[in-house]
Amino acid sequence: MNREEFINRIGELKREKEAVILAHYYVDGLIQDVADFVGDSLELARKAKETQARIILFCGVYFMAETAKILNPSRKVLIPYYKAGCLMADMAIAEEIEEFRRKNPDYAVVTYVNSSADVKAVSDICCTSANAVKVIKSLKADKVLFVPDKNLGSFVAEQVPGKEVIVWSGYCPVHQKLTPMEARRKLQEHPDALFVVHPECRKEIRDMAHFVGSTSQIVRFVKNERATKFIVGTEKGTIHQLQKLRPDATFIPAYEEFTCDQMKMITPERVLKALEREQFEVEVNEEVAARAREAIERMLEVV
Ligand code: 13P
Ligand code: SF4
Repeated sequence: MNREEFINRIGELKREKEAVILAHYYVDGLIQDVADFVGDSLELARKAKETQARIILFCGVYFMAETAKILNPSRKVLIPYYKAGCLMADMAIAEEIEEFRRKNPDYAVVTYVNSSADVKAVSDICCTSANAVKVIKSLKADKVLFVPDKNLGSFVAEQVPGKEVIVWSGYCPVHQKLTPMEARRKLQEHPDALFVVHPECRKEIRDMAHFVGSTSQIVRFVKNERATKFIVGTEKGTIHQLQKLRPDATFIPAYEEFTCDQMKMITPERVLKALEREQFEVEVNEEVAARAREAIERMLEVV
């Protein structure tokens, strides 16, 4: 099936099945092109919550589809491939967080949405990379445990000087792989470029950047900048939207294989099959979902 046939077939299936396609910036460009909405994890959660469509086909990793189901449980939520998980989300488990809470009752637990529903369910509030600072500033507690990303956690800690923020030991292997040496090399090769990075990158990388933000914040920054060359310190899929918005500009991945293999498990073929067969349906235990929903809704009330 060529590109045009694929786009037409997906359009037919969307109408027939009353489906909406939500896609993260990291998925294949063709999938982004057939999606009804492309965004970062915060924007996608908001869209998922408000949609009236019968089916939400979520083109992203599992925790994102799970969040959509938690926020809009009466919809049928599908993910094109059930094994597409987030490697960082697997680095925190609910029992460990509960143990921490028992030993440290004066800490508020702030959990990045890149986590399982079980972990969200034992947290006080969730955040994304777009709103983490605002979420922590909104809390009465001045002691915070940030779960699971140590890099985003340290980025946030720098911006809330009145709070004591301790961080879990998780990280994103895809962003962590960008080393200061490689980033320095890219900056030397392209001295006229602006360096934009996701806060999941290491502190040394963030300190070299001209801009640090969530994927949507990076997209907005690039859209409004005059510069015509950017080194992109996040997953390569983002370059698809950047290039569409700024056809005049050049985008250089901060390292060659800046690719999340989990996101790339969401292929156009699987997207098509998912709509045709209405697979793979995302279910969340209702009791866990109810508690996780509270933590996510609290976040959505903040910003
Ligand atoms: P965003 O919050 O920018 O969508 O990032 C999610 C993610 O998984 C980054 O690796
Ligand atoms: Fe998870 Fe990293 Fe992939 Fe984002 S890029 S989905 S944090 S593994």
